[in-house]
Amino acid sequence: MKITTLGHAGMHIETRYGTLLCDPWTNPTFFASWFPFPDNSGLDWDHFGDVDLLYLSHLHRDHFDVENLSAHVSKSATVLLPDYPTDDLQRELEAIGFRRFRRIPHGRPVRHDGLDILIEALVAPNDGAVGDSALAISDGDACVLNQNDAKLTDFTQVLQFGPYDAHFLQFSGANWWPWVYTLPDTAKRAFGAAKRANGFNRALRFVEAVGARRIVPFAGPPCFLDEELFQYNDLDNAPWNTFPDQAAVLDHLRDHGIAGGLLTVPGSTMELTGGSCTVAHPAPETEAFRPFRDKARYLQEYAQRARPRIAAERADRPDGHMDVLFELKSWFEPLMEAAQYIASGIGGPILFKVGSEPLVLDFKAREVRAHDGEKCRYVFTADRPLVQKLIRDREVDWVNSLFLSMRFRASRIGPFNEFVYAFFTCLSKERIEYAERWYAEQDASAGDLQIGRWRVPLRCPHRKADLSQFGELDGDILTCTMHGWQFDLSTGRCLTSAAHKINAVPADQS
Ligand code: FES
Repeated sequence: MKITTLGHAGMHIETRYGTLLCDPWTNPTFFASWFPFPDNSGLDWDHFGDVDLLYLSHLHRDHFDVENLSAHVSKSATVLLPDYPTDDLQRELEAIGFRRFRRIPHGRPVRHDGLDILIEALVAPNDGAVGDSALAISDGDACVLNQNDAKLTDFTQVLQFGPYDAHFLQFSGANWWPWVYTLPDTAKRAFGAAKRANGFNRALRFVEAVGARRIVPFAGPPCFLDEELFQYNDLDNAPWNTFPDQAAVLDHLRDHGIAGGLLTVPGSTMELTGGSCTVAHPAPETEAFRPFRDKARYLQEYAQRARPRIAAERADRPDGHMDVLFELKSWFEPLMEAAQYIASGIGGPILFKVGSEPLVLDFKAREVRAHDGEKCRYVFTADRPLVQKLIRDREVDWVNSLFLSMRFRASRIGPFNEFVYAFFTCLSKERIEYAERWYAEQDASAGDLQIGRWRVPLRCPHRKADLSQFGELDGDILTCTMHGWQFDLSTGRCLTSAAHKINAVPADQS
């Protein structure tokens, strides 16, 4: 098996039974905020797009690049579809000409033309774009796990499919917290440091759980080339930066005794056979690894090249007048009406300032209206042309567009509320109905677990991580290291997010 890394989460895999392309992202996305790091625009995309199989892990635009897929990827490729609850992924691929699909049942190995394939599909409303996935494949010569962005909570099937010659996983940030929030710089740095440490520790746990021979950090970070966002790049390995690069996580893994980490760039190849791995880079290492070694200068040069793309995106934002209140009323109100769980989870009004126009999403009255001065727990502010573009394009996922762009400001009173983001991910009837069903089906029937002097549910109240694996107790504070949420077991209160309690009882009373 030969793997060529294509930048970010892109991979081209040559196997004994044909070729497979994964997540070929090369065009800037999220309002030209994110660019692939390192630059992969010089790759021969026609060559890498001429494949038998295609796998798009999920619909986030740094994985699903419509422009690249349309221009360079063979429409006769068979798409391996994760078993997602909505058809958005298939529909979007059909719209650009793909016709051959094979839906892979969640967590069940299948054989496809000689290749063994396993796809784990995560389906919580906040997993990716209502769906995130990991792919394992074996051609008999080698077996690899492309974990991608998927924060797997259960490794049973994945481990049965292995052992693995290589494990590709995400480890870096893809989130706006805490940088867009109105907070003092010292608080931002403290929150950033905690987030970075949590990401590294989660990656370490995944690596330990899978136990592959080779570990390839990938699928992030992006780089920010617009002047107004350039500050977010991690130029000097700052302990508070939430966008650490591949070299930084490899240091972290080495510091924790993990050998087998590999640094790759677009065009690096790995020949995997009989347990061995031969790596080659597209240039001598001093040159190939310059994006990491000489990062500030490399990114400044890249930013110069990116200027026309950034300017073109800006020119595409509609700046004429649109009746945003009318548009959002007719779009959002039927969704708010259908969002029983989400509305009660949000619990109050959200203030959304569209330029200088303050609008309220009132989840009690289920209406969008002008702000009448009331206090709102969440406040978002975005430039009017950005919001008008979201409306013009009928963007059903503002998390996978506006929020990931970092081109907005936010403030909140109290803890993070995941329902707010579930709503902005699900701006279509199909998605909101699915999310409502998902929340309705959650229960604590998976059993429980003793941890310290407490009995708690086996599954984390957030997204069901196995607390026997991801739970860490400090006094009465339980941290689920999957996403870093904390629970005070003496009260059951979630310290990280509103509307999520944990049922904890002293073990001697259970
Ligand atoms: S599953 Fe997210 S913090 Fe536990």
